[in-house]
Amino acid sequence: MPTLKFHTIKWLDGELEILDQTLLPAQEKYIRLSNIRQVITAIKTLQLRGAPLIGVAAAYAIAMAASTCRSRIEFAVAVNEIKSARPTAVNLSWAVERMLVLYDASADAPDREQKLLDLARQIHAEDAEMCERIGVFGAELMPENGAVLTHCNAGALATAGCGTALGVIYEATRRGKKLSVFADETRPVLQGSRLTAWELMREGIDVTLITDSMAGHLMSRGTIDCVIVGADRIAINYDVANKIGTYSLAVLAKEHGIPFYVAAPTSTFDRQIASGIDIEIEQRDPSEVTDCGGLTIAPEHIRVYNPAFDVTPNPLITAIITDREIIRCKRWAEHTKS
Ligand code: MRU
Repeated sequence: MPTLKFHTIKWLDGELEILDQTLLPAQEKYIRLSNIRQVITAIKTLQLRGAPLIGVAAAYAIAMAASTCRSRIEFAVAVNEIKSARPTAVNLSWAVERMLVLYDASADAPDREQKLLDLARQIHAEDAEMCERIGVFGAELMPENGAVLTHCNAGALATAGCGTALGVIYEATRRGKKLSVFADETRPVLQGSRLTAWELMREGIDVTLITDSMAGHLMSRGTIDCVIVGADRIAINYDVANKIGTYSLAVLAKEHGIPFYVAAPTSTFDRQIASGIDIEIEQRDPSEVTDCGGLTIAPEHIRVYNPAFDVTPNPLITAIITDREIIRCKRWAEHTKS
């Protein structure tokens, strides 16, 4: 696994230090979040983002709330705000629920605050371990020598470890596989160009940036050997919610007979939701679409639709790579035939 030259999140002297991802790639700046309001704002504004990383930050936010809220009601309000900061990534509510179980169970404990902080640290460490294991499971699925297409950022920047989809690429490279990566720029927030391209270049991986609309062309020319993406929520039937544009890529991959892999930790599986249709899709501010790099690129008052995620139905997925196993999906047979 790579020895990362940056960190996304660190608990330091009672505060959260995070890498402000809204400033990348121009500036690598760490900021301190000293209260839950700042953590919630950082999650909402994408200063920290990516489903697993949001979960880790939410766990620390609950620990902060437990030590600063003066009443049970104040704590309940804080929990609610943390939980609803972003609706699609289930890792957030998964981490909050884990923290709340301990909060309730340790009601009479004199060291409740410490216990909660210890659990947040454990969730943090577990996330890094899950990334490593995803890398190990996924590396074997990567071609010996080939091109991998990825979307959004499911790398170290999206987790507290080496990443999910990019973790697989790091581990395969470490094993000597010769991979080149095509990174979709990922409109409208450009996590692909601002974050994935930055991260992969820093880690010495061969990466080429493309706009989202170029993926089909590359596939039609036989340039792409497989697609690998992350996930924000996986339903019981293994439908996958991920960054907007993932579904289109999966359709394209199926059309061209290219394997489509999803890499995600167990914290991304939602055991309450039967299928993708029930997953809440976050709608984001229209300005993400109408403005780019400080410039307005659309007419004033234009109506905008800006869902941050879409759902890829399981039949379009070849396999889901988790920290425990490779879940072979309906498309698996297609890729084992040849
Ligand atoms: O809006 P973002 O940047 O939080 O969206 C992130 C993604 O869609 C990632 O692909 C997903 O969270 C998986 S990260 C390991």
